[in-house]
Amino acid sequence: MDPRPIGVFDSGLGGLTALRELRQVLPGEDLVYFGDTGRVPYGSRGEEVITRYAREDAAFLLGQGVKAMVCACGTVSSVAGDLLAAETPCPFIEVVIPAARAAVRATKTGRIGVIATAATTQSGRFPAALRAMDPALQVHSLACPLFVPLVENGHIAPGDPLAVPAVEYYLREFREKGTDTLILGCTHYPLLAPLIRDCLGDEVTLISSGKEAALTARDLLQERGLLSSRETGGESRYFVTDAAGSFSAVAEVFLGEPVRQVIPVDISGLEKLELK
Ligand code: DGL
Repeated sequence: MDPRPIGVFDSGLGGLTALRELRQVLPGEDLVYFGDTGRVPYGSRGEEVITRYAREDAAFLLGQGVKAMVCACGTVSSVAGDLLAAETPCPFIEVVIPAARAAVRATKTGRIGVIATAATTQSGRFPAALRAMDPALQVHSLACPLFVPLVENGHIAPGDPLAVPAVEYYLREFREKGTDTLILGCTHYPLLAPLIRDCLGDEVTLISSGKEAALTARDLLQERGLLSSRETGGESRYFVTDAAGSFSAVAEVFLGEPVRQVIPVDISGLEKLELK
C-alpha cells in the first residue's frame, strides 16, 4: 500500500479527460495534474521540442513525489513515450499501447482507424503498435488538426455548425474504408465522441486513449502493490503553466466539474529541471 499521489500530465488541459477516468477507477487515490497550458499545443511541434518539454513535465511531476506517472498526451506518448518510460524512475503509463490493445480486442473486421494530432500521426507510433500486436490489421491513421481548437472553443454539441462539417470532412474516409474501430488518439477527441458517432454510426467502436490508460494504470499499480489503502476520498491538485483567460471554463469542459486547487508553475523554472 502506497499513499503517495499518482501524477498525470499533458500538454494542456485535455489530459483532464484522462484524470477524470482515473478518478472514476481509483476514487481513493490522490492525483496531481500538470498541464503545460503556457506551451500548448505540442501536436504541431517537432520531435526535439516535444521531447524536451515532455522531459521537463515529467521531471516536474517527479518533484511532487508521485509514485507513478500517466502521460495523458497522445503526442508525448507517441513521440517520447518509450524514452520517458526508460528514463522515469517510477511506473510510467502512456496512452498508445493501452489504446492499441483495446482496439485489437474490439475489432471484428481488422480495419482500425486512428485519429490524432499531426505529430502523433507523423510518428507512426499507433500503427506500429497495432501491427506489432497483429500484422494482418489494416490500419489507417489521420491527423485532424482542427479538432483541438474546435473543442477548446466549445464546439462539442451534436449538430454544432462548425464541428459537424469538420468531423464529416476528416472522417468520411474511415466510412469509405469500412473502419469498425476508431482510436481517439488525442486527449481532446473524447469530447467529440457524440459527433463522431453521428458521422460514423454506432456500429463503429470508439476507443478513448485516456480511459484505456487509466485502466492500465489501475491494473499496474494493483499488480505492484502500489495502490493506496483508501477506497474513496482521493484529492486532486492541479499545476498549470498559464491559468489566464478562459482557463476555468475550458478546464471544466474537460473535467466535468469545477477545477479547484490550481497552482501556477513558472516555465523558466521548469526549463531548469532535468529528468536524468
Ligand atoms: N494533448 C495533445 C494530444 O493528446 C493535444 C493538444 C496538443 O496539441 O498539445 O495529442
